[in-house]
Amino acid sequence: MKKRVAILISGRGSNMMALVEAARAPDYPAEMVLVISNRPDAPGLQRARSAGIKAMAIDHKAYATREAFDAAVEAALVGHHIELVCQAGFMRIQSSALATRWLGRQLNIHPSLLPSFKGLHPQKQALDAGVRISGCTVHFVTPELDAGPIIAQAAVPVLADDTPETLAERILLAEHRLYPFALRLVASGTARLEGGRVVRKEGVNQADFLYSPMA
Ligand code: GRF
Repeated sequence: MKKRVAILISGRGSNMMALVEAARAPDYPAEMVLVISNRPDAPGLQRARSAGIKAMAIDHKAYATREAFDAAVEAALVGHHIELVCQAGFMRIQSSALATRWLGRQLNIHPSLLPSFKGLHPQKQALDAGVRISGCTVHFVTPELDAGPIIAQAAVPVLADDTPETLAERILLAEHRLYPFALRLVASGTARLEGGRVVRKEGVNQADFLYSPMA
């Protein structure tokens, strides 16, 4: 049985489309059934609909509190029998109630090698720090921003003449491969959250956890 997945977005939705495309493979262990954007004008909504995925806006500005917005998101997830949630460029911090309710069942992608460069503008943070390697991380969502247990990471080089934009582009290409890889691990039960860490299913080949963006 494929896991029923909802994707939370706020913008263009290129990671969302990477997940949608990966899920077309017959052996992929998850199906994308719902896209929710907190911004009604997010281009990703139309992209999702064109791909045949149900897409809805839940405008955070229409809710008086974070909790009220989160309750509307929760109702949509429950109403569509969602089993796993993927945040993909979703620019809202969740209340700890919602993050806790979905603990171990909600993923996020962040364009840095966490725990370095949490929060906004991680590519500029990486350039300012002078690191030679950056990348992206898929982690389980916890109430603390960008701090949840790490499922998978991919590294990319930082080049001497990089700007935040050129580095972001290089990282984004890795994101599009890493997110489907990480969701496959979770949806298949190969990786799961246990005691605040990501544990691997017994008997699984260690190589199945190694992701190389150059391969
Ligand atoms: C990605 O870099 C993601 O990691 C970050 O925001 C960007 C979203 O891009 N959180 P897209 O909407 O998936 O194209």
